[in-house]
Amino acid sequence: MCGIVGYIGHREAYPIILKGLKRLEYRGYDSAGIAIYDGNTIKLSKTKGKVEDLEKCVLDEISTNGKLGIGHTRWATHGVPNNVNSHPHYSNSGDLVIIHNGIIENYESLKKELVKRGYSFHSETDTEVLINLIEDVRNNENVKLGKAVQIALNQVVGAYAIAVFDKTKPDEIVVARLGSPLAIGIGDKEFFIASDATPFLEYTKNAIYLEDEEMAVVRLEKGIKIRKIKDDSLVDPYIQELQLNLEQIEKGGYEHFMLKEIYEQPNAILDTFRGRLSVEQAIIKMAGIEDNMKRFLNADRIIIVACGTSWHAGLVAEYIFEDLARIPVEVEYASEFRYRNPVIKENDIVIAISQSGETADTLAAIKLAKSKGAFVFGVCNVVGSSIARATNAGAYTHAGPEIGVASTKAFTTQITVLSLIALRLSRAKGTISSTDYRMHLIELEMIPKKVENALKSDENIKAIAAIYKEASNCLYLGRGYNFPVALEGALKLKEISYIHAEGYPAAEMKHGPIALIDENMPIVVIATKKGHYEKVVSNIQEIKSRKGKIIAIVTEGDETVKSIADHTIEVPETLESLSPLLTTIPLQLLSYYIAVMLGKNVDQPRNLAKSVTVE
Ligand code: G6P
Repeated sequence: MCGIVGYIGHREAYPIILKGLKRLEYRGYDSAGIAIYDGNTIKLSKTKGKVEDLEKCVLDEISTNGKLGIGHTRWATHGVPNNVNSHPHYSNSGDLVIIHNGIIENYESLKKELVKRGYSFHSETDTEVLINLIEDVRNNENVKLGKAVQIALNQVVGAYAIAVFDKTKPDEIVVARLGSPLAIGIGDKEFFIASDATPFLEYTKNAIYLEDEEMAVVRLEKGIKIRKIKDDSLVDPYIQELQLNLEQIEKGGYEHFMLKEIYEQPNAILDTFRGRLSVEQAIIKMAGIEDNMKRFLNADRIIIVACGTSWHAGLVAEYIFEDLARIPVEVEYASEFRYRNPVIKENDIVIAISQSGETADTLAAIKLAKSKGAFVFGVCNVVGSSIARATNAGAYTHAGPEIGVASTKAFTTQITVLSLIALRLSRAKGTISSTDYRMHLIELEMIPKKVENALKSDENIKAIAAIYKEASNCLYLGRGYNFPVALEGALKLKEISYIHAEGYPAAEMKHGPIALIDENMPIVVIATKKGHYEKVVSNIQEIKSRKGKIIAIVTEGDETVKSIADHTIEVPETLESLSPLLTTIPLQLLSYYIAVMLGKNVDQPRNLAKSVTVE
């Protein structure tokens, strides 16, 4: 789970690669490195730390001289983050250099063989093994770099997106992918390589996304040749026009991407249902559902697979699907599902939820489900991502790029898509009355405006954050639809402020967590009017009598909870099934402000990465 960037063309490679790495830091940021061919030899700088640390220590000759280069931002898998383990890695001769995103699982056995043949290793990485394997093949079999890469990759077990070049043949970069994404930007007599298209957006809108088990030789003069790694067959390049623009991937005046993305939610949700929802005609139209309606109507069960925040969106969907469409739902961590022997029946539908569309465990869960004959539907944000392509059908969330590692707008747009699907199915199945259906559509259409109103509590939330920023623990409680929101709120706080937090169903509190409550414990309770309100109020009383500090998320105008809680944050009223779209907002802001006040790196929290392309 790293970011890779490469360039070959007529411009200085260094600034392009450096800026590209900054855009890819969401993929990992514990070390960074860059290698540039200066017309004579390879110049390489790398360091532990972020891309900005690399920038400070980069060799002078790298920054000014060279039109071919590769760069890497790392999230360590094999070998601790340090200068030596950082990429790029040389081969023993110093002719070849590589960057790699992924894991070579059989690297130890390959390494033993190479050591026997006289190779030595400076780092603990699997990547250094791969580059020497490529060199070994190139020397022994007397083949060109592209062929050597292909032969080497056929001996490798694992996942990779790699870019390699050879200083003795500096007119080409060889790239390949299996399980980790790789895009090639096509400019005018120049080519860009990257884990996603953001590093080359200002240079070209034309890109090729390599498929798994494909490799490409990218030649300055002759263009791109793509082949299947296994059987050597040639592949016709499919050039896509990118829909992304630069504005979408910049901070636009916000201090952090996370805050920008929190504030983007009204528009993001609007974009999610744009063209799909018509209140006037009382319809929801989604091609992926319409095309497979029969399957959905016959579904005995829906199994949702996802990780992290997307898994929480799946839990919300469980309530919506069961409540409205009366379809039984199971929500599974993809990482557990894939290693079980799950029972999947003919009429089951698997829904995979993923912002990035690249999460390795979710991808593996999809493959497993498909191998058992399941129909798999994807809910992804990143267009053309691996999961979007691996599923049988799907619906994009259209949230726009999410850069902050802590997911925000991805969550609310996933819930929006899943609500649209549940509503569409409930109408088709007749499990919802036309009045209820209409009411849901009207309410859904009003959600962006209501999210905007929820965001107005910003200052109030900032003040609450200032009071509790030193807490060492925090509990989040919710019931029904808002139980998953409690989990998500706790996850947000953990991720970016490193404060221990737990989400719990409010009623379960008395079976354990209540023992933790004392006057130092802040407890965030979602206590909106619709859905078990009285029960939650009783739970709040239970906390109060143990002197816990209550931060309650309430419906506008609520007086009851206000009179008991230490602090309240209001959200507009809506239907219970849509309430997670509003109650989530203050929880995102609360963790954001606490993390900022604690001086944490909000967009790039320690040890995490946005896109987890390793198991
Ligand atoms: C990582 C991210 C989380 C995200 C999870 C699943 O852990 O840090 O924010 O929720 O992966 O990612 P996905 O892209 O599949 O939604």
